Amino acid sequence: MTFTVSVSADRVECRPDQPLLDAFLRGSVWMPNSCNQGTCGTCKLRVVSGEVDHGLSPEHTLTRAEREQGFALACQATPCSDTVVERLDTAPAGTVHALRDVVGTVSAIEDVARDTRRVLVTLDSPLEFSAGQYVELRVPGTDHRRQYSMANTPGESKQLEFHIRRQPGGVATDGWVFGTLSVGERVEMAGPLGDFRLDPEDAGPMILLGGGTGLAPLKSMVRQALTSAPDRAIHLYHGVREAADLYDMELFREWERAHPGFRYVPCLSDQSWSGRSGYVTDAFVEDFDTCRGYSGYLCGPPAMVDAGVKAFKRRRMAPRRIFREKFTPAV
Ligand code: FES
Repeated sequence: MTFTVSVSADRVECRPDQPLLDAFLRGSVWMPNSCNQGTCGTCKLRVVSGEVDHGLSPEHTLTRAEREQGFALACQATPCSDTVVERLDTAPAGTVHALRDVVGTVSAIEDVARDTRRVLVTLDSPLEFSAGQYVELRVPGTDHRRQYSMANTPGESKQLEFHIRRQPGGVATDGWVFGTLSVGERVEMAGPLGDFRLDPEDAGPMILLGGGTGLAPLKSMVRQALTSAPDRAIHLYHGVREAADLYDMELFREWERAHPGFRYVPCLSDQSWSGRSGYVTDAFVEDFDTCRGYSGYLCGPPAMVDAGVKAFKRRRMAPRRIFREKFTPAV
């Protein structure tokens, strides 16, 4: 049994146990989304007609008053009848890639930095996505799903690259990626997800600030941007605690040599060294008097992203040109 759920002129079928977001995205109908876990509020919509079950929507993301006024979280709400909803946001530029389930085989596992692994997965069939988006990996033998951004470009849609940081005691990291996972293992995932995407209509200068493995989607974006415009002005800042946490430095140095407009700035917050020390957001503020005309992309822990938004605004970046993804390390 399914219900019909509609937004504007688009309608899709949705099972009674299926979140509205899942149904819309699988039908290639865009709906704002970020965390897909009920915590960010990005997917909030208005129910125009019909009835939904709010499922596990947390009170701090969707208040009782909002429920009474007809709001719902698309990533948590399931339909109880045919339903018509209204989006509260306008679609970002670019293609909507249909959400789907894919299976692949682990083709490489590499320790790239302290407690950080690069995992390559060769898919059975290519996955269309935009630079910056993520997939949800299913942790075998559990009901857990974990979100990891693709670090490869959309052009390399058959082999996905993930950067995974170990969380002590974590089901997905200690128990799997840093435990039993081996080359040749089959992995299941669903994707792509998320609205953190390289704007395909912007060819202007850009600044990207990444914290820890928040580097992954930025690497995809930088490479994608340089592929289409090799001379584009791009400043990539990577903030970590100590030198042992840095990775892919040589690759970025190579990109600097090949692309005069590209600059890579690694920053250590807890260690002095020959390079930049301190917070990555402070390094950016020191380097720029103004960044009018620039686009800014931020991915990392919530405190870093919030500080980055403030820093960009302080340097006069237009708020609509600021794109962000708050990265919550998966356990
Ligand atoms: Fe974050 Fe739904 S609450 S996408």
